[in-house]
Amino acid sequence: MVLYPLVRPLVFALDAERAHRLTIRALRAIPPGEPSREDRHLAIRVAGLDFPNPVGLAAGFDKDAEVHRQMLGFGFGFVEVGTLTPRPQPGNPKPRLFRLAADRAVINRMGFNNRGFEAAKPRLAGRRGLVGVNFGANKDSADRIADYVAGVREMAPFADYLTVNISSPNTPGLRELQDEGALRELLAAVGEARTAAPLFLKVAPDLEPREMDAIARAAIEAGMDALIVANTTVSRPPLRSRRASEAGGLSGAPLKDLALRRLRDFRAATGGAMPLVAAGGIENGVDAYDRIRAGASLVQLYTALVYQGPGIAEAITGELRTLLKRDGFATLAEAVG
Ligand SMILES: Cc1cc2nc3c(=O)[nH]c(=O)nc-3n(C[C@H](O)[C@H](O)[C@H](O)COP(=O)(O)O)c2cc1C
Repeated sequence: MVLYPLVRPLVFALDAERAHRLTIRALRAIPPGEPSREDRHLAIRVAGLDFPNPVGLAAGFDKDAEVHRQMLGFGFGFVEVGTLTPRPQPGNPKPRLFRLAADRAVINRMGFNNRGFEAAKPRLAGRRGLVGVNFGANKDSADRIADYVAGVREMAPFADYLTVNISSPNTPGLRELQDEGALRELLAAVGEARTAAPLFLKVAPDLEPREMDAIARAAIEAGMDALIVANTTVSRPPLRSRRASEAGGLSGAPLKDLALRRLRDFRAATGGAMPLVAAGGIENGVDAYDRIRAGASLVQLYTALVYQGPGIAEAITGELRTLLKRDGFATLAEAVG
């Protein structure tokens, strides 16, 4: 972990997807550490689950549920695997993953490359710590809603929570499931299939106020347990890197302001009726704390891990403890919103 600053130039010399594959392979080879123990100040109960700390690994890093134990061992309070689809699929043509180092950002158009539900099940069966399973629809699916229902039915026994992902920009038409009529139909079907595992809904940051109100209402009425705000953006704030005009979803530092604004919008739209999970451009304890103060009960990150290495989870939890103490909060829950 402490070696990451030394290893990073080697990793960054490789094509981004190759570097990611090698990272997963290297992580698989190391024995997993123990999941975090409950932190007296940072532990929080959300959707009936006891999170040892609020800092999670966002979906997309461990798509096939290969290294969740190792990542939990680095101090993440929870790990979200996936996106998984019912059947394996190759994703989009390469190259499809780009580092924008000058912007501390990434652009990806992976397109849900993954080995499918079946391959992930045995890897999740012996899980320790809190693991969420994020799922979506196959690109060539004839019935997308049926794919999501299959996600709930098949993956619930292998997950502490489930995430309905309707916000990837890289599967054509997927985000249209955020439209009110389609969303209500989807959430009704998913709700009917639900078991004990809590259901989270992950939304895009590229939404109008009217759309956010409709999503918030539909999610509350369908009894969803939390909203994850947000996925990558198709917008392009000013960027310095050469790769800025690649198609796909942008993540990392340039997403920070937009993701925070969207979190505030969803806090207002839900009126606190539903827990919120913040993602997008979180790089340090101050960013995490800003989201918590804005209404998030949990945070997730992915891109900052690429730039800072696996020590980031412990760095952020350490900073969060200091910030809570500074502001006189005995527990994280007191600081939410
Ligand atoms: C390479 C890459 C792949 C991703 N794949 C997924 C995915 O499969 N499913 C998903 O819900 N989000 C995916 N995401 C989005 C992240 O989970 C997260 O919402 C987003 O990147 C914003 O957080 P960040 O700025 O900390 O990276 C991916 C992000 C990146 C960078």
